[in-house]
Amino acid sequence: MSYDPKSIIQSYERNAEFEDASEKGRSLRVELPREFIWRYLRASDRVLDAGGGTGISAIMMAERCSRVTLLDITPRMLQIARDNIAQAGPSGKIDLVQGDITDLSRFRNEQFTFVVCVGDAISYVLDRRFQALDELVRVAEPGSILVLGCDAKFGFMRMKLAQGALDEALDILETSTSTCGMGPRTHLYTVDEMTTLLKERGCPVLEVASTPTFGDTMDLDGYTADADRWEKLKRLELALCTRPELLGMGLHLLFVARKEGRRAKAERDR
Ligand SMILES: C[S@@+](CC[C@H](N)C(=O)[O-])C[C@H]1O[C@@H](n2cnc3c(N)ncnc32)[C@H](O)[C@@H]1O
Repeated sequence: MSYDPKSIIQSYERNAEFEDASEKGRSLRVELPREFIWRYLRASDRVLDAGGGTGISAIMMAERCSRVTLLDITPRMLQIARDNIAQAGPSGKIDLVQGDITDLSRFRNEQFTFVVCVGDAISYVLDRRFQALDELVRVAEPGSILVLGCDAKFGFMRMKLAQGALDEALDILETSTSTCGMGPRTHLYTVDEMTTLLKERGCPVLEVASTPTFGDTMDLDGYTADADRWEKLKRLELALCTRPELLGMGLHLLFVARKEGRRAKAERDR
């Protein structure tokens, strides 16, 4: 199955308002990765937010770091991001760029000190995921943190089995691809695959999390309506989401990796 950028753009053009609402609202898929970002982001960081969507995370990051470049492939998502940034009171610290994570040639090598690609762009690029990872790593300065979120193979299989779709679960076992809720075809990663791909690119993984572990398969209405219960559920998810025995249960995985320094790379290349 080859990557088709047009189908991704069409899907996000159609669902842009819904996506904007989930970036702004109570969503474990969106909020848990942010908790990891806050753990590692430094005031001096120059951030690339790749597949940054309607800019809510970019606005939050810009309050805590030096500069954010939000890159996204979908014009409508960028238009909403522009409006959101204007409404937030523009900090002058966010640049918006239309582009594809498989080709970041507009950016210099090592231009950024913190690279975020959360929300599955790295899954939608299917067979081009190797180029996309090469690019995300290339634009990161040695020592940078990378935070990558993707669709999870075993979580998708569990969902299909719960829906009674045994053949689809077997197909995922074989192909590691499926169709996500929004419509695009998606590559489903295991912890091992992404850890290996990052390690091969000189980015050892520091943390892996299931984002979320339980929330994907729960009825969340009784939680999203109550701020107190929501915060408690989030605390519970955060306490458990990195437990090795639970990784991969949910539909999404999050990886935090650090690009090795020049000395480590020279030693590895010897
Ligand atoms: C689920 S949204 C995530 C938005 C935000 N990062 C978040 O986590 O809330 C995925 C975003 O990735 C963008 N996207 C998908 N494939 C992409 C690609 N190949 N290059 C750049 N952006 C892409 C979509 O347009 C969409 O805005």
